[in-house]
Amino acid sequence: MKIIRAKNYDDLSRKAANIISAQVIIKPDSVLGLATGSSPLGTYRQLIEWYRKGDLDFAGTSTFNLDEYRGIRADDGQSYHYFMQRNFFGQVNIPAERTHLPNGAEPDAARECSRYDEAIRAAGGIDLQLLGMGHNGHIGFNEPGEYFSKGTHCVDLAPSTIEANKRFFESADDVPRQAYTMGIQTIMLSRKILLVVSGEDKAEIVRKAFFGPVTPYVPASILQLHGDAVVIADNAALSLCDMGPEAVV
Ligand code: F6R
Repeated sequence: MKIIRAKNYDDLSRKAANIISAQVIIKPDSVLGLATGSSPLGTYRQLIEWYRKGDLDFAGTSTFNLDEYRGIRADDGQSYHYFMQRNFFGQVNIPAERTHLPNGAEPDAARECSRYDEAIRAAGGIDLQLLGMGHNGHIGFNEPGEYFSKGTHCVDLAPSTIEANKRFFESADDVPRQAYTMGIQTIMLSRKILLVVSGEDKAEIVRKAFFGPVTPYVPASILQLHGDAVVIADNAALSLCDMGPEAVV
């Protein structure tokens, strides 16, 4: 796994967008795995800018998002469907029928999770998966626990995740308690992985996840075992790590 140092959030976002952009140029029919949250927003903004300038074309791509809240409809303003539509899909030319997220409105968890895994398989697997990381080391909604999860599944959100995500809702009580998420195995099967992380509040978990032991108690630590994973972190997120412009762990 390679860790690349960025000066700040803008620099990190441009570097990440460059990698995604190269992926789409080299393989126009790429299957992109995408994330929500604050971390990738700058990356999406940069990709949109290059698309508007005519430097990037998403017409051949397909996308699979990591996760969606359970019990929420796609048109709900708090859904990840809505987030992606507003912050990315609605502003580039990815064909709508090739953008995929778990269906939070499907009450039958087993059915929805196997449908989603099958759709990823049918698309040929994910070429490049973009990730953020939670303060507890979660990726997707794979929370710390005794083992690494496999395929897409339904999870109970950790109290710390509900607390962190309440900023997108009126109050913590409004944050859904469950979500559908790709599993750790689904993520690890992606041919390339790109994780973006910024800010001093993530410095401790960056040190644990990428310079500590691989353990399901820090889910992102598994990325150390992936053959083609890149982490782009800004100076603030790397403030507790002793490394130069890049490191291989
Ligand atoms: C979002 C996701 C989460 C976030 C993580 C970090 O689809 O899967 O794992 O990437 O919670 O969130 P931010 O970027 O808001 O700090």
